Amino acid sequence: MRFAYKCHDCGHEFESDGIVYLCPKCGGSTAPGEFRRGILSVIYDDDELGRLRDRRDLSVDDFLPYPIASPGTFPCGPTALVKPGRIRKETGVDVTLKMDSQLLSGSFKDRASLLVASQAIHHGQTRIALASTGNAGAAMSAIGAAYGLDIILFVPATAPVNKLMQSVLYGAHVVPVRGTYDDAFALSIAYTQSKGGVNRNTAYNPMTIEGKKAASIELFLQMGREVPDIIYVPTGDGCILGGIYKGFYDLLHAGLTEALPRIVCCQSDRSDAIAGAFETGVYADVKATTLADSISVSSPANGRMAVRAIRESGGHVVRVSDDEILQAQRLLCSQAGLFVEPASACAYAAFLKDCGSIGGGEKATVLLTGTGFKDMAVFQGKVALPEAIDNSVEAVLALPF
Ligand SMILES: Cc1ncc(COP(=O)(O)O)c(C=O)c1O
Repeated sequence: MRFAYKCHDCGHEFESDGIVYLCPKCGGSTAPGEFRRGILSVIYDDDELGRLRDRRDLSVDDFLPYPIASPGTFPCGPTALVKPGRIRKETGVDVTLKMDSQLLSGSFKDRASLLVASQAIHHGQTRIALASTGNAGAAMSAIGAAYGLDIILFVPATAPVNKLMQSVLYGAHVVPVRGTYDDAFALSIAYTQSKGGVNRNTAYNPMTIEGKKAASIELFLQMGREVPDIIYVPTGDGCILGGIYKGFYDLLHAGLTEALPRIVCCQSDRSDAIAGAFETGVYADVKATTLADSISVSSPANGRMAVRAIRESGGHVVRVSDDEILQAQRLLCSQAGLFVEPASACAYAAFLKDCGSIGGGEKATVLLTGTGFKDMAVFQGKVALPEAIDNSVEAVLALPF
């Protein structure tokens, strides 16, 4: 679909045949210690969106700015929409769990990475650099392998080893950085500015937000062309949240829905920059220390847009402790058979904290974004494997269960 760009901060609108990142008017004006300015949204003409309204065979790809390159090379969804019977009974809420942990690299980040790969291929580029807390890097590396692209990945050296190992196996150039995710973010921009290639940094490349909106459109199609009343989104940089909002926004502007779901920003209380900005109006960085590595962000790349999305959707923020996150992770395993990573469990913990205030008859969705197999280290010292028994029938008969 034909598209243009709009700056979230100064409102500047423009078209471009090239690859653009921040707003050319105000993108460089961010002061140290405050959230980045000049993040761009991809925008469409309402009439063009409206043409999708009467399409019977509507698909996610109809809403994207670039055609997906060689479709089927790296399928991306639909992911399961679970109706968890035991949890519904216990909470009394008509809740669904959107299992983006099922995507091929094990996280939601396939959605943005597939669109950025298609953007690069469309523009004849073969190299993509990015910073990641781990999952975006693994997703981009997997998709780079599938399409024969060169991936240069800057990650904090402390990222979970499984996520780094995945990217190494996919064949990416992995560059562990002795520093934070925010440091890796700056270094990857320095890399593309001097060495060329496409930069896939979250929100910095507007196609990341646009790719992530696919989850909302997929959810709408899975729910029989309906949207939930409220959706819980795990949040670090706020790019997933911005993408989820954008998907529902496009559906609204296409005349396919009548209202936006309330978007709930779910954060660890040890990485709550966006929650703080929503409450105070001050867009200030924090010192992030949560064990949920994927949402441990001091300076959220899409913080300003995320705050606006929460507000415009009538949503709110929920903070949870790291203990509540780990407890929610265990509950999803034991009550629904779903094993997700701590960042995803943050959204479920927020739902549990909130569920008493969800109206009767309302539909809620919790977005579960990453598989638990990526980070088994969080269980060290917390979950013990049972002792082995002797190889004898007596030992079986002595079992207490
Ligand atoms: C599994 C998972 N969940 C949630 C998030 C948070 O997304 P965002 O940083 O866009 O808020 C991430 C980001 O890396 C992630 O990997």
